[in-house]
Amino acid sequence: MSATPPLLGERLSKVFQAPAVPLTVFSGVDIEVRRGERVALTGESGAGKTTLLYLLGLLDRPTAGRIFVDGADVSGLGEAELAAIRNRTIGFVWQRNTLLAEFTAVENVMMPLLIRGEPRAAAREASAALLEEVGLAARAQHLAGELSGGEQQRVALARALAGSPSILLADEPTGNLDERTAALVIELIERVHERRGLATLYVTHNPNFARRAHRVLRLEGGRLLPG
Ligand SMILES: Nc1ncnc2c1ncn2[C@@H]1O[C@H](COP(=O)(O)OP(=O)(O)OP(=O)(O)O)[C@@H](O)[C@H]1O
Ligand SMILES: [Mg+2]
Repeated sequence: MSATPPLLGERLSKVFQAPAVPLTVFSGVDIEVRRGERVALTGESGAGKTTLLYLLGLLDRPTAGRIFVDGADVSGLGEAELAAIRNRTIGFVWQRNTLLAEFTAVENVMMPLLIRGEPRAAAREASAALLEEVGLAARAQHLAGELSGGEQQRVALARALAGSPSILLADEPTGNLDERTAALVIELIERVHERRGLATLYVTHNPNFARRAHRVLRLEGGRLLPG
């Protein structure tokens, strides 16, 4: 018998109610990300990659279908319960820098821990260790807004890991970086993924980065297809 996958989407559909006609982004999408698995999600602009990540990250609800996180069906849960699951189980890295520019790197990483009610000193200590894990210990006290793009993505990755998630979702985490810096960020994601045994799903337009995943999925014409 196989273990319960950390992330499972079943027959997922998303329809946006546009002014003229409803827009069906995708329908009947089945997706599974197993523990220890790194899956790349590709597809043309507008194919629905971010939309799918929002559903799987419990930031938006599917029009139809069900999502299971660590084996539990989350479909019937309210906003507060979904937020709690997100905080404990799912780490996000986005393409655009989502750090708070006026706060230091370590303060940014601390945020999810403070939100879940951890004492400040413990949160600070854990966050310093996370910055060390992404190779940024020396930048802990720098303002996030003053860091380079690559450094900011590393802080964002440290923040995503702060809640000790089992699932890592990344939406074009290297989209704004030059090729060399992008490769460093991808390698870092691979390292933390391995070390922590995560279930990782990342969107990328870069075929080289997609090839490095264990599995590649492609959204096309409202369907999810193998690589
Ligand atoms: N909140 C919304 N309301 C209406 N339509 C939306 C909404 N969000 C996304 N869409 C539409 O859904 C489709 C899929 O968008 P999505 O952002 O998921 O694409 P994507 O694959 O991530 O594209 P990109 O590679 O450019 O980031 C697009 O046609 C978009 O206009
Ligand atoms: Mg997108």
